[in-house]
Amino acid sequence: MTDQAPILEVRDLSVSLPISGRMVPVVTDLSMSISPGEAVALVGESGCGKSMTARAIIGLPPPGAVVSGSIRLEGRELTTLSPRERRRVGGRGIGFIFQEPMTSLHPTLSIGQQMTDALRYNLNLPTRVARDRARELLARVGLPKERDLLNAYVHELSGGMRQRVMIAMAISCNPKLVIADEPTTALDVTIQAQVLELLIAMRAEIGLAMLYISHDLEVVAEFCDRAIVMYAGDQVEAGTPVECLKMPHHPYTRGLVDAIPHAGEARARLSPIPGQVPSLGSWPRGCRFQPRCPRQDDRCATRPELATVVRSEVRCWHPLVGEVS
Ligand SMILES: Nc1ncnc2c1ncn2[C@@H]1O[C@H](COP(=O)(O)OP(=O)(O)OP(=O)(O)O)[C@@H](O)[C@H]1O
Ligand SMILES: [Mg+2]
Repeated sequence: MTDQAPILEVRDLSVSLPISGRMVPVVTDLSMSISPGEAVALVGESGCGKSMTARAIIGLPPPGAVVSGSIRLEGRELTTLSPRERRRVGGRGIGFIFQEPMTSLHPTLSIGQQMTDALRYNLNLPTRVARDRARELLARVGLPKERDLLNAYVHELSGGMRQRVMIAMAISCNPKLVIADEPTTALDVTIQAQVLELLIAMRAEIGLAMLYISHDLEVVAEFCDRAIVMYAGDQVEAGTPVECLKMPHHPYTRGLVDAIPHAGEARARLSPIPGQVPSLGSWPRGCRFQPRCPRQDDRCATRPELATVVRSEVRCWHPLVGEVS
């Protein structure tokens, strides 16, 4: 953490989606702050609302909606901007890297066209200058100079190359913040490590702040300064990733940690969390994790507030204290 003013400040963010004709909560009362150069992780099982949080920050297209709360980028409130202004502020200030570049990169525009369009629109660069900068960026993310990738199309590239192009595009307009939503999940293990190394190098080189969404607590522990654990649209624990891994306080975080496979460990020793994340519109009252929680009792029918436990913020009536993994 630094003492500088935060790049991103999210306060009490609630997001809803229309399902069967009514607006259903998908993220509730989420708060986070990311300082310059800091990497904050969002973790949690599939369907917990990680991507919806990211999309709300980027500017969720209707009919999804931010129903309450505040999102400030370098002190500027984003939720009250017009969609056009929002695109402009977001385009310059936030870069994104998504899990599947095939769905985020345009299939019928060359890489060069896509990159120069963004540079011309966001930074008002003349075409020639934008093209030179695009070429520079591709070299910077480790793509081979001898292949003129500016004229290539996304289907001609391997998965690892596509993800490098996405990273080049994400940093192209000198953003202060990059949001990476499971950026390595679609890649094989060796390429995953290379892309992760590249992100780490970019962070150090440019001093980027990053919101890093992942299922992988061990990668998060290596890469991020803070972690926020989400469950059913709720922030259930926030702390340093090492603390979350070594001394999880929320029974849900504990369940995630116990489900991590370790090299050489027999499969039978893994203990996945029983049950499933409740679907939207059918979250239990009170603590949303209670139907799956080994520590559940009558008190859990009331929603717990976030409270400090040791050095973490935890939303639980019965947090684990001093039980090291
Ligand atoms: N367009 C949509 N229409 C209806 N429900 C949606 C839509 N997009 C997301 N959801 C639901 O919203 C919830 C949160 O989804 P979200 O994509 O944020 O989860 P996630 O934590 O990113 O999961 P994953 O780890 O699988 O990416 C899920 O229950 C999902 O099914
Ligand atoms: Mg997601």
